[in-house]
Amino acid sequence: MKINNRLKTIGDLVPLSSYPLDIGCDHALLSIYLVKEKGLSKTVASDNKSGPLKKAKENVKFYKVSDKVKLLEAEGLDSYTKGIDTITISGMGGLNINKILDDNKKYLKNIDTLILSPNNYSLAVKRKLLKLGYHIENETLVKERNIIYEILVFKKGRKYYSYKKLFLGPILMTKRDNVTKEYYQNLLNTKKSLLNALPKSFRNKIRLTKKEIKYLEEML
Ligand SMILES: C[S@@+](CC[C@H](N)C(=O)[O-])C[C@H]1O[C@@H](n2cnc3c(N)ncnc32)[C@H](O)[C@@H]1O
Repeated sequence: MKINNRLKTIGDLVPLSSYPLDIGCDHALLSIYLVKEKGLSKTVASDNKSGPLKKAKENVKFYKVSDKVKLLEAEGLDSYTKGIDTITISGMGGLNINKILDDNKKYLKNIDTLILSPNNYSLAVKRKLLKLGYHIENETLVKERNIIYEILVFKKGRKYYSYKKLFLGPILMTKRDNVTKEYYQNLLNTKKSLLNALPKSFRNKIRLTKKEIKYLEEML
């Protein structure tokens, strides 16, 4: 089936024996990929808008997987279904992802794995997941149409990370490939622009940004 590299990478990180829920599924391509190409027996795909779900319904029918992909119109984790143990959320802002998880924390007790790909605020997402009792198991970058996407895999269980490790990414900082270097370079440029724009009175933010610039320069 046709699926972009970003969604395929997310799909390939989903445990094969899991029962996953994709929140913000849009056209449900990730869930269809999981049952059609990865052999998962069932998945749930949800979105809070009817437009994308209409297309999702057509896709599920087209790929003949209506019996394996359950589609739900729901806000965030309201689509939680008994037995779900893995959640994927991608293509949304990090603060929206955090809100979705915060609003329905009660369901997280059953969730072993979260695969999250925020469009921004990834540090805030990492901090939120640590607070919710998860640790970082994997970090992957995918470059598509000149945009670098971050994909974070969280597993249940607490772990301590220094600010430096959390900021750079405990797994990402061990990688030396070109996309990782470009990711750090982009972040360095953003932090340098921020430093130039910060008013002198923002002393703590200036101190933190200088520290982050130092960490990034060490990586490059
Ligand atoms: C940009 S699309 C990303 C689709 C797909 N996950 C991907 O990565 O390509 C974001 C989708 O999330 C849905 N969405 C945004 N906020 C949501 C929420 N709070 N609950 C459920 N769906 C949401 C939108 O309707 C939209 O279809």
